Amino acid sequence: MTTSNFNIEKIIAISTPEKEEVTFCKDVIEGLSSSPKFLQSKYFYDCAGDSLFQEIMDCEEYYPFNCELEIFRERTKDLADIILRQSTSFDLIELGAGDCTKSNYLLKYLVDINADFTYRPIDISANIIDYLHLELPVTVPGINVEGLNGDYFEMLGKAKDLSSNRKVVLFLGSNLGNMLPAEAIAFCQELRQNLNQGDIAIIGLDLKKHPATILAAYNDKAGITSAFNLNLLQRINRELNANFDTNQFEHYPVYDPETGSCKSYLISLEDQSVEINTKRGFKTIHFKKNESIFMEVSQKYTPEQITCLAKQASFKPIKMLYDQKKWFVDTIWQVL
Ligand code: AVJ
Repeated sequence: MTTSNFNIEKIIAISTPEKEEVTFCKDVIEGLSSSPKFLQSKYFYDCAGDSLFQEIMDCEEYYPFNCELEIFRERTKDLADIILRQSTSFDLIELGAGDCTKSNYLLKYLVDINADFTYRPIDISANIIDYLHLELPVTVPGINVEGLNGDYFEMLGKAKDLSSNRKVVLFLGSNLGNMLPAEAIAFCQELRQNLNQGDIAIIGLDLKKHPATILAAYNDKAGITSAFNLNLLQRINRELNANFDTNQFEHYPVYDPETGSCKSYLISLEDQSVEINTKRGFKTIHFKKNESIFMEVSQKYTPEQITCLAKQASFKPIKMLYDQKKWFVDTIWQVL
């Protein structure tokens, strides 16, 4: 049950930050008015969320980051050899580059052997892109960086206009895992549509393993993952002038070994109402005791499922690079 006087469609001709706020507001209200309720995990990453995610990567239990770092550190030459099988110059495009801790190994290696490439990190955070423009020429002297700030596919389109070089796309960190399998197929198909024959995609995915290991990674003892989820409610309080009491919600992660979906929920501990009250209107959201908000999926795959995903999106899988424990894979696909 909801009450509101919102009419977001009427708002026209507004500035970009305001547009972003309106989209955020619209998505939040849509998700919390649905049954069952949900929020979009892409909204975790405000300033506080970025730093909580950094803390997650330092948690004992959170293995994906260290596994993929090991792959980029130990298998740099294997990665580079595949990229350089074609001798032509190329654009190395990283979707959601972040601070590129992992790709750094590859960038250094490629610069050291004088490979002819431009690194084009794409990120929705303008701060990240500015930071990379300043930082990378210092940590990787001689690198050619041209970052693009915006939506993945919009910026991939821009990258195509900027240069006709062949493309090597990095999509690391199991970010594809934040999509349900059907969405992941659609995403890979759209990626394929934006590439040409011979182009390469390198995708980092988390693998199925003992269910307890997976669940623990999303339920760390120190409570950082809980804080990371609750921060989205606090973000809604901060940016949309809402009044969530985060003490009245509890982090509840589940992993289903059959589907490979690890999902996070927030559970309402009481019957309660929350008001969202922006300049443009207000809305009251009612929660029943024990009602859930679906926050995030982190999908886990088998190598066979990854091969199948590649084929469904018209890519040819050419290599799987694993960490020692075989917990994580960077899979290399080529456009047929
Ligand atoms: C950054 C999307 C890979 O799903 O493992 C970590 C985000 N969420 N702990 C993941 C996350 C909870 C992470 N990704």
